[in-house]
Amino acid sequence: MKILKSAKKLTKEVENLKSQGNSIGFVPTMGALHQGHLSLIENANHYNDIIIVSIFVNPTQFNDKDDYDRYPRTMDVDIEKLKKVKCDYVFTPEENEMYPEEDNREFNFGNLDKVMEGEHRPGHFKGVALVVSKLFEIVNPHKAYFGEKDFQQVAVIKHITKQLGFNIEIVPCPIIREKDGLAMSSRNTLLTTDQRMNVSLISKTIFEARERSKKMTVSETKDWVIRTINDNPYLNVEYFEIVDESSLEPIDNWSQKGEKVGCIAVHVGKVRLIDNIRFYS
Ligand code: PAJ
Repeated sequence: MKILKSAKKLTKEVENLKSQGNSIGFVPTMGALHQGHLSLIENANHYNDIIIVSIFVNPTQFNDKDDYDRYPRTMDVDIEKLKKVKCDYVFTPEENEMYPEEDNREFNFGNLDKVMEGEHRPGHFKGVALVVSKLFEIVNPHKAYFGEKDFQQVAVIKHITKQLGFNIEIVPCPIIREKDGLAMSSRNTLLTTDQRMNVSLISKTIFEARERSKKMTVSETKDWVIRTINDNPYLNVEYFEIVDESSLEPIDNWSQKGEKVGCIAVHVGKVRLIDNIRFYS
């Protein structure tokens, strides 16, 4: 496994590998790796000859400076974890490698960044799009792997990939959960023991909402989820929306066409967690 900090070197190596007929799978991350990240690498390994993982805590996507400062950084442990799976390259750029100068490129997300994460974390998707488009320029893989844990992020990345004309297949991968149902997240390590014991209510509630939705309207289902979670003193719901899978427009009736996904963001003290669930059509 090669560890590279230089974008130029990585681009050159990838070009070489491609010219020898290798397929390239890419998994972008911000590190503090857990089984969710490793599952993306596993998926990538099924369909690609060479696997490239990037680890970069991207400052431009944090709309809250404290969240950026607190974000877990565990590079040495991450490298050890990557050595145990099949990963060929780890790209670990410093900030000035990714942002040697100010980059003001603009993106058009249509309606995708007007709701949920886009509404509550202004500028977040612009930062994600900026870093992912730069990473795509550097790596230019055949396929790139993203987790459905960040459901809206997948939609935004598919959108900009098309818009910017990258010839890269975006592969969404299922959410990996802890035994008690909590969606794995690097931010889970920031929870206190008490908080950790209480956050499993988030996934439990949205899973139960899927069952209850058979007998409830959309608005009753949303109210029930918000009330049930907010009844727990550790948890404070920022939003729970049930949206159309493709447009991310909130739905108000179960009979609307298309797949429906319930997306939630919850504050647990200073930590903010997200999760989502597909509703039955
Ligand atoms: P990060 O939060 O490190 O996540 C990297 C990838 O792992 C994302 O595609 C995310 O959806 C996926 N992932 C995280 N937890 C998961 C889980 N429990 N199950 C399945 N997949 C999971 O997302 C980012 O980094 C950044 O925004 C990034 C795309 C790297 C741009 O900076």
